[in-house]
Amino acid sequence: MHTGSIRPAGGALEDIVSLTPIGEPRRKITTATLREKKLHRDPITCLTAYDYATARLVDEAGIDIVLVGDSLAMTMLGYENTLSVTVDEMLHHVRAVRRGVKDALLVADMPYGSYHETADEAVHNAARFVKEAGAEAVKMEGGEKRVDVIRRVIDAEIPVAGHIGLTPQSVNVMGGYKVQGKTLNAIEQLMRDAVALDRAGVACIYLEGIPREVAALITAEVETPTIGIGAGPDCDGQVLVFHDLVNLTFGHAAKFVRRYGDAAALITQSVLSFKADVASHQFPSDAESYHLPKDTQSGLETVLQRKRAMR
Ligand code: KIV
Repeated sequence: MHTGSIRPAGGALEDIVSLTPIGEPRRKITTATLREKKLHRDPITCLTAYDYATARLVDEAGIDIVLVGDSLAMTMLGYENTLSVTVDEMLHHVRAVRRGVKDALLVADMPYGSYHETADEAVHNAARFVKEAGAEAVKMEGGEKRVDVIRRVIDAEIPVAGHIGLTPQSVNVMGGYKVQGKTLNAIEQLMRDAVALDRAGVACIYLEGIPREVAALITAEVETPTIGIGAGPDCDGQVLVFHDLVNLTFGHAAKFVRRYGDAAALITQSVLSFKADVASHQFPSDAESYHLPKDTQSGLETVLQRKRAMR
């Protein structure tokens, strides 16, 4: 990628085109837009993004919500799970994503430990995402048992996205990443969680890793838009992890993942081609090189000739 001063980073002005479809001006997505979409049964789209480039592509493609998920602990930082990522690490990525997002609603995940002790600590950390990184909402895992803290954050004028079902920050309590809500008791608890979040006034509820029948019941019960991941097609919207979408996650993909592209193959092929071209002196070509102006070139040749003659 060219980042020098000769051309603006990202391409010459004449190369820069918007991906927004012509004739369909995009408008800023807000928490109110999500409610409107639920009312009109217009599916909400959400993807994760963790850096400027992918955030910009996702936003320009017209996705409604860009979520800086704590899944970046694995996808970007190579941790084993989401538990060790810190507020400061998350902030670093949210700031980069903020610079790439114009129209989508920007939601930042509150990492494990940043809202689990006191409501004051939750408000303090949530406000950091808004003030220091430009997030428009924060996401917090947990239903009924987290609802008092969530209310305090909403009272501080910070929209909150709820997240129930398979909540990865509870991996040690759940004993692994297991589909939740499979017994009558578990369904009842999930319904109570969803209703508690709905009453608290969250902006949306992420439903992760639950049977589609349960997701459908919750979606019909609450006024809040639901956004599913591994929760079937009856939610008000769908979210996928960007790295899953384009095959940049290593290892086994979950059942709900649909791969829409193969960035891993594209990157590997590009890297191998570069390596081979350098090894065989095919890169860079003369056309990819800068050249001296003609008069400097002839002056240089004269100087070199004189030097050779003096030897
Ligand atoms: O961290 C994340 O990416 C998430 C989504 C999967 C909802 O929480």
